Amino acid sequence: MNENTANGFISVDPRQNPLREVHNLLLSGVSPRPIALVSTISEDGVDNLAPFSFFNAFGANPPYIAFSPAYSGKDGSAKDTLLNLEKIPECVVHAVPFDLVEQVSLASTAYGPELSEFTKAGFETLNSDAVRPKRVKNSPFHMECEVEQIIPLGGTKGSGNLVLCRVVRFHVSEAVMEDGKMTPDALDLIGRNGFNYYTRASGAALFTVNKPTGQGMGIDQLPELVRESSVLTGNDLGKLGSLETFPNSAEVQNYVSGLKKHAPESKYHKLFLHGLEDMDKNPGQAKRDMEVAAKVALNEGDEKFAIHVLLALAEL
Ligand SMILES: Cc1cc2nc3c(=O)[nH]c(=O)nc-3n(C[C@H](O)[C@H](O)[C@H](O)COP(=O)(O)O)c2cc1C
Repeated sequence: MNENTANGFISVDPRQNPLREVHNLLLSGVSPRPIALVSTISEDGVDNLAPFSFFNAFGANPPYIAFSPAYSGKDGSAKDTLLNLEKIPECVVHAVPFDLVEQVSLASTAYGPELSEFTKAGFETLNSDAVRPKRVKNSPFHMECEVEQIIPLGGTKGSGNLVLCRVVRFHVSEAVMEDGKMTPDALDLIGRNGFNYYTRASGAALFTVNKPTGQGMGIDQLPELVRESSVLTGNDLGKLGSLETFPNSAEVQNYVSGLKKHAPESKYHKLFLHGLEDMDKNPGQAKRDMEVAAKVALNEGDEKFAIHVLLALAEL
């Protein structure tokens, strides 16, 4: 690759590097990408199915999604999906769960326009309500779409064609619904990463982040001792900086007195008290124990404990 390095980064000018290298950079760095399993129909009535991971949603009112079938990097030929959409601008875009990954991969092989990937990759079909292409019954989420624009992104070998679609009908499998919501564990969707990697969005890979409600105080408002802590990570500081107010000195002292008076209610409370006791003998270790206590509290969702203890520490 034609590149230079500075500040620990490899910098690459896409205009001075082969398509393959540029493609790999995008595929690895823009990942995981959701996968659209796109159903189209030819003028001759042959059903076509292919996966596209250059795909996302772009608006809800009205709902818009887009994906990008590229021209072949070798000979510049167009994919059947693009050729079909130029004639019949309708498609159904399906989400891809883990259970379908091998069939979807098989559907990505270059079968001729006369062959249907529905048959080749063994998918069951359902008729659509509002468009001509068929639906893939095996996917839990379908979007029937009218294609509004096809925007060529270069018009040359390897270049993309952004297919902008307005969603005219959603279909959600009842099997993935719980209390009126789609649950990620039941959906078990996959994403595409670089090279042969995929991601599975369920189980231990899922986590939640509380939406910030108001305006956070900001990391810059934390005392230097907290910002420079070798125990707290950027995520820890982000949680603290999201708090809308910090307690004042009197509130901190009051809270800490309360902690000292009461028997420990949690592991992190215990660790904090242990740190306090140790402060005269071994201040370095004691400070570390208290920072770890705050970190554990943050992990367990007790931001109140963490900010009071850390501000107390900064005042020592
Ligand atoms: C997971 C996955 C994601 C893909 N994403 C894209 C993509 O975003 N753009 C593209 O042009 N090809 C993509 N491909 C390759 C196409 O699916 C493949 O070229 C397919 O044969 C096109 O089918 P068609 O000729 O029936 O349209 C992807 C393949 C896989 C397996």
